[in-house]
Amino acid sequence: MKLTVNNSIQWFLKANEKMQENKEYLTLLDKKIGDSDHGINMARGFQEVANKLPTQDYASVSDVLKDVAMTLMSKVGGAAGPLYGTIFLKMSTAVKGTDPVDYQTFTNGLEEGLVGVKQRGKADVGEKTLVDVWAPVVDFFKQGVDFQADQLVETAENAMDNTKDIQASKGRAAYFKEKSIGHIDPGSTSSFYIFEALAEVIREGE
Ligand SMILES: Nc1ncnc2c1ncn2[C@@H]1O[C@H](COP(=O)(O)OP(=O)(O)O)[C@@H](O)[C@H]1O
Ligand SMILES: [Mg+2]
Repeated sequence: MKLTVNNSIQWFLKANEKMQENKEYLTLLDKKIGDSDHGINMARGFQEVANKLPTQDYASVSDVLKDVAMTLMSKVGGAAGPLYGTIFLKMSTAVKGTDPVDYQTFTNGLEEGLVGVKQRGKADVGEKTLVDVWAPVVDFFKQGVDFQADQLVETAENAMDNTKDIQASKGRAAYFKEKSIGHIDPGSTSSFYIFEALAEVIREGE
């Protein structure tokens, strides 16, 4: 499978549905180890993305990703806006010039997104942030040769669940010190929804 402009639009429309459906849950997670706004932030930003994408005429997947990045940066607010904005902007640059986007190029895009968000947030693996979902997903893509929906969901879900046992050392959750242990990271959960949405697009494309 290769990712077309339409596939990439569907990806974000599906991700938006998940952000809306789980808005309260994401906010509840952020209530435990943050300031109770992650669901509100993500639902607002992705709704803007979903409103905009179908109204534009995109020439490339790179252009879709760039527009997603810009919209998230300006509308999400909180830490998550610039972080997700960075991810999709880096991906946009990495896949520029290849349409539709093949597996290797997409994998490279995910990796560039991960590198970018680690720099932006000064976070590494094991700090209880969305990096803890993106890093294993990038590893999973690098090991594969083609898009795999079921294993993608499994990888992202396990990674999200594993954030429960980590003590936070970045972002607002770090203020909770050892009390952050035992709670799933909100940003890792919104990242899981993004990969779950991608898996649905992959299934439809097969
Ligand atoms: N420095 C960082 N690097 C990477 N991810 C981070 C960082 N700080 C926070 N995050 C992610 O952002 C999420 C919180 O987002 P959100 O609640 O929207 O913003 P805020 O923390 O400003 O309220 C966290 O659950 C975590 O996954
Ligand atoms: Mg918050």
